[in-house]
Amino acid sequence: EAVEFGLDAPFEVEYHDSIDSTNRRARELAQDDAGDVVVLADEQTGGKGRLDRAWSSPSGGIWLSLVLRPEVPAAHVPAFTLATAVAVTRAAREAGVDARIKWPNDVVVGDGVGPEGRPNGDGEAVDEELKLAGILTETQGEADRVSWVVVGVGINANVDVADLPAERGVTSLRQEVGDVDRRVFTQRVLEALDELRDDLPGAVEEWTEYASTLGKRVRVETPGGTVEGEAVDVEFPGALVIDTGDERVTVTAGDCEHLR
Ligand code: BTN
Repeated sequence: EAVEFGLDAPFEVEYHDSIDSTNRRARELAQDDAGDVVVLADEQTGGKGRLDRAWSSPSGGIWLSLVLRPEVPAAHVPAFTLATAVAVTRAAREAGVDARIKWPNDVVVGDGVGPEGRPNGDGEAVDEELKLAGILTETQGEADRVSWVVVGVGINANVDVADLPAERGVTSLRQEVGDVDRRVFTQRVLEALDELRDDLPGAVEEWTEYASTLGKRVRVETPGGTVEGEAVDVEFPGALVIDTGDERVTVTAGDCEHLR
């Protein structure tokens, strides 16, 4: 089934059965002065994740990239990433999945605590969060006003967990609640994002309601070094506030690990 069929998105849609990376194509469109457009693909052959990782994108997932031209300073761009995580989480919850967000932008299932564990794709019990979706935001422009923002969203939708990389805990909508109508799911995500982008501070507040990270002990590898402590808050446009015991440290970027 082609996802684009009948999609009544608040953005212009460019659909590909197969493409290397929707983010790569979206950057190209952004350079060519395209307006608000979403690039959608059934399959990606060279999907990119954060920190230069590869992102497996088999047929059946929801792989999309949005080109936006917001009138915001570069420092506010992280808020789009958080707003997108909120949009995906809302749609996942509507589909019956108990989705949460791990700072800054992983949509996960399970909270990583508790004695029971839950089954992963191989039926083995795990206590960790299983990743359902990831977001990769890219931007270009001046510090006081960006020229474009590309928000890439990868949702493991109607795919087998066995077809996703096993080295990290992953899950899919198929695994959690069975196959979804990708057209409906995609439309919900895009409509939510269209609403949230007009109130980014509100989106960041809603983010805290779904946070899996807040209240946990965390270790964040930042460009400036490792910060460890209790995650106590997220502040606009997306910084994590960590109480180290001695002081409150605000981190704006990095890889976050939840500790017990
Ligand atoms: C992450 O590492 O968590 C971010 C993953 C982002 C994947 C999406 S899939 C659609 C878009 N195109 C890409 O190449 N990457 C993003």
